[in-house]
Amino acid sequence: MIRTPYDPSREGAQMSFDGRMSYGDYLRLDTILTAQAPLSDAHDEMLFIVQHQASEIWMRLVIHELTSVCDHIARDDLAPSFKMLARVSRILDQLNSAWDVLRTMTPSEYTAFRDALGMSSGFQSFQYRAIEFLAGNKNASMMRPHAHKPDIHAWLEKILHAPSIYDQSIRLLARKGFAIDQSMLMRDCSLTYEANESVRAAWLTIYRDPEAHWSLYELAEKLVDFEDYFRRWRFNHVTTVERIIGFKTGTGGTSGVNYLRKMLDVVLFPELWAVRTDL
Ligand code: HEM
Repeated sequence: MIRTPYDPSREGAQMSFDGRMSYGDYLRLDTILTAQAPLSDAHDEMLFIVQHQASEIWMRLVIHELTSVCDHIARDDLAPSFKMLARVSRILDQLNSAWDVLRTMTPSEYTAFRDALGMSSGFQSFQYRAIEFLAGNKNASMMRPHAHKPDIHAWLEKILHAPSIYDQSIRLLARKGFAIDQSMLMRDCSLTYEANESVRAAWLTIYRDPEAHWSLYELAEKLVDFEDYFRRWRFNHVTTVERIIGFKTGTGGTSGVNYLRKMLDVVLFPELWAVRTDL
């Protein structure tokens, strides 16, 4: 017996989109799905492009969340910022799992299209740099690859000079009555963060008596969670890179794995790690 295929319009599924906004219209899939343009005939270049684009789309959301976290902490409105920081950690976890897909590409497969990339590299990802700046890893020299794009440069420069999520957290500690050095509250936020004793003492007080400072304690743990997942991203990246290109220089011109290994030493929230030793 031939069964008639089920017709979802019988239960109301909309089937006609003439003059109506459809799923593809709302999500601009015509733009997104026509943006994969391999420059070689190598089969694996599509994987490389999709993996980077998908990462950039997730970074878009991370920036959206971290920007809002800064605003909420500045307004002493911590509960929503906890939810957003938790979401950012889950996104990083998702990006960490995504390396498993890229690892299916062998060095021979990558070599087949590497020349097509020219000097382009994730090193020039302006969204990644924005995330580093929002998280507090400020480095003005990282602005230079964006000088040729005035809009992006101006956008990134604003984030470089604005207080990071950690600067905002330290200002919050001061507002809550902790004795934070004035130099930390007045600091030029575009400069590299340097660990400070008054900040360490404040976090230590909070960790010694969580019940008395529960929301600051929760903020501290959410920040540590974020940095933990970020470190895993850096580690997965460098391991994948070593697996694929060994110790060759990067397309962006750095020493490659050796450069990325240096980045593993970055500490975003130094006093929050230091209190672990003090407790
Ligand atoms: C075959 C896979 C990959 C290889 C061989 C690779 C290689 C490299 C290398 C060698 C660098 C150092 C800069 C340079 O000289 O180019 C770098 C930086 C970077 N890559 Fe990748 N990468 C790969 C995949 C990815 C993916 C999927 C992303 C996700 C967006 C990504 C994002 C980045 C970022 C953000 C940086 C800058 C890191 C920093 O400055 O701390 N990479 N990559």
